[in-house]
Amino acid sequence: MSEDLLQVENLGRSFGAFTALKGITASFGQNRVTAVIGPNGAGKSTFFNILSGALRPSTGSMRFMGREIGGTPQHRFVHLGIARSYQITNVFPQLSAHENVRIGAQAFRSRYNIWTPRASFHDVSAKAEQALADVGLGASRNRLASSLAHGEQRALEIAIALVADPKLLLLDEPTAGMGPEETKAMVALIERLAAGRTILLVEHKMKMILGLSDRVLVLHHGQLIADGTPAEIQADPDVRSVYLGQSHGYA
Ligand SMILES: Nc1ncnc2c1ncn2[C@@H]1O[C@H](COP(=O)(O)OP(=O)(O)OP(=O)(O)O)[C@@H](O)[C@H]1O
Ligand SMILES: [Mg+2]
Repeated sequence: MSEDLLQVENLGRSFGAFTALKGITASFGQNRVTAVIGPNGAGKSTFFNILSGALRPSTGSMRFMGREIGGTPQHRFVHLGIARSYQITNVFPQLSAHENVRIGAQAFRSRYNIWTPRASFHDVSAKAEQALADVGLGASRNRLASSLAHGEQRALEIAIALVADPKLLLLDEPTAGMGPEETKAMVALIERLAAGRTILLVEHKMKMILGLSDRVLVLHHGQLIADGTPAEIQADPDVRSVYLGQSHGYA
């Protein structure tokens, strides 16, 4: 088995006549942070939707831990060890932080039925507590999700993803809508989570990406136009020309 956790080859996706993603070939090793960047509409979320099973690829293959997963149903992905958070905050506002995570944990343990021993429920509850503590929300367990600050809600989403103990964590714009302080806290969280996990994140904040990532992939019009270290990407003339005149420049 290859030491890479995930390998994609010639991965693509069309919507009718429109090709949103085309010919993506890349491998992802264990325990690294890779940023996926690119202008609006470049195909970043489409790429993540495919990697998390929400969309079937139109072309190509994807291997996770040496096994083809391209045709796997979406609900199996979390069991494979792939979990994600969404570009738009996605929590139940009228439930507490703990309830939000516990529901995620129970959905993951979908084999539950009325004969499930009580101890297993304690197990789920303990997993939820641990996930909340991991993202720094242990003290906020009983607060309604709607009463949490925006940054805390994003952390809560990550806690929900963590209960499955994913090997691959996909974060789609985890700092979207955050100010500098919340962004700093999210960067610290991602750094903590990166120990022992492979993380792919979509981001627009260039400074953050360059500081946090081991590697950067650049998508443009659905194609992978660059793949390298942050320093290589910064120096890449194709990347520079794509970002020239963009609102999300190298600020
Ligand atoms: N379900 C769909 N049906 C039709 N077109 C789609 C669908 N999903 C995405 N697209 C199109 O595919 C292209 C890539 O979209 P995607 O959401 O992957 O971009 P993105 O890089 O995540 O952009 P952003 O930075 O704005 O989030 C866009 O032109 C989008 O309109
Ligand atoms: Mg997107």
